[in-house]
Amino acid sequence: MSELHPLDAAGIEAAVAAAVRAFDAATTLEELKVARLAHTGDKAALTLANRGIGALDGPDKAAAGKLLGGARASIGRALAARTSVLEAERDARVLVEEAVDVTLPVLRAPLGARHPLETLQEHMCDIFVGMGWEVAEGPEVEAEWFNFDALNFDPDHPARAMQDTFFVAPRDDGGAGAGASATSGIVLRTHTSPVQVRAALERKEALVEEGRGIYVICPGKTFRTDELDATHTPVFHQIEGLAVDKGLTMANLKGTLDHFARALFGPDAVTRLRPSFFPFTEPSAEMDLRCFVCGGSDTACRTCRGTGWIEWGGCGMTHPNVLRAAGIDPDEYTAFAFGMGIERTLMFRHGVKDMRDMVEGDVRFSQQFGMEV
Ligand code: PHE
Repeated sequence: MSELHPLDAAGIEAAVAAAVRAFDAATTLEELKVARLAHTGDKAALTLANRGIGALDGPDKAAAGKLLGGARASIGRALAARTSVLEAERDARVLVEEAVDVTLPVLRAPLGARHPLETLQEHMCDIFVGMGWEVAEGPEVEAEWFNFDALNFDPDHPARAMQDTFFVAPRDDGGAGAGASATSGIVLRTHTSPVQVRAALERKEALVEEGRGIYVICPGKTFRTDELDATHTPVFHQIEGLAVDKGLTMANLKGTLDHFARALFGPDAVTRLRPSFFPFTEPSAEMDLRCFVCGGSDTACRTCRGTGWIEWGGCGMTHPNVLRAAGIDPDEYTAFAFGMGIERTLMFRHGVKDMRDMVEGDVRFSQQFGMEV
């Protein structure tokens, strides 16, 4: 192609027409880009002609500038027009090709959920950690000695019987009971109280030598030979607290339980202690919670069954024999302990009617609680 002279009006017009034809022939933005480079790029005839303007003199320069300026403007308009047509086509195509069917099921692999017993247990521990207590753990398969003897149960205490306790290994004396000095069986722990003795044994040096009081909270699985029904399960959870220090009294126990109740059930929670008996505490008490649904004013209340109070757990001042079993001098230190069922707490705190829902593992049960407790 011969070079285009900057004053060649007919040639310039033809070059513009060729560019416009090429733009119109482009059917995609990519093709349009190729056409644009061919007709407006460095080597295009019009670009080269534009560069030739500099070599012209006065009036010719002005005439050529006008001619080529007009040509560039026409090309620019044609390019812009074709660009917007092709962009609109592309947008319409993308909308069709990338359409999402919002009516399809969203979660094909449903998310799991944390079990509410687990989150409630963590929440309970957090309340004590917030007061500076430690979380302690103990084995679920426990020596009969820790589960019963160290806790001041008589060798022939009825709770030890096969009807209540899962024995993993029988006692050397074959369960004869009376007369045995220390028992040697292995059991699935029937409560979290053996952790009281273990925690005290582990920490008694720091207690005696550094004056560091023992403040531990122990959550965990417990086992009793119950049939699974709406209110019983052979595997359940307890949370146990133990405090050993100089000068602890029932007032400290009551204050701790009140704080626990308010942290868990709100600032209006009220507790009461009722005299009771446990071999490992003296005095012992049952701890009740004022019904947080009816406040004790509704005789038809389903949460407290009209009694105004909900039984929550057991507690008391740790028996001197238990401290002795852990090698702690009961004349120098006093201790309190408490324990409650986590299933039971979940039942009345969240209105769960049937314990079986907690053990069957249906994720729809857990999902109702979300990640909250
Ligand atoms: N271990 C008792 C139970 O299982 C609860 C308890 C714990 C009572 C600590 C007093 C002190 O019922």
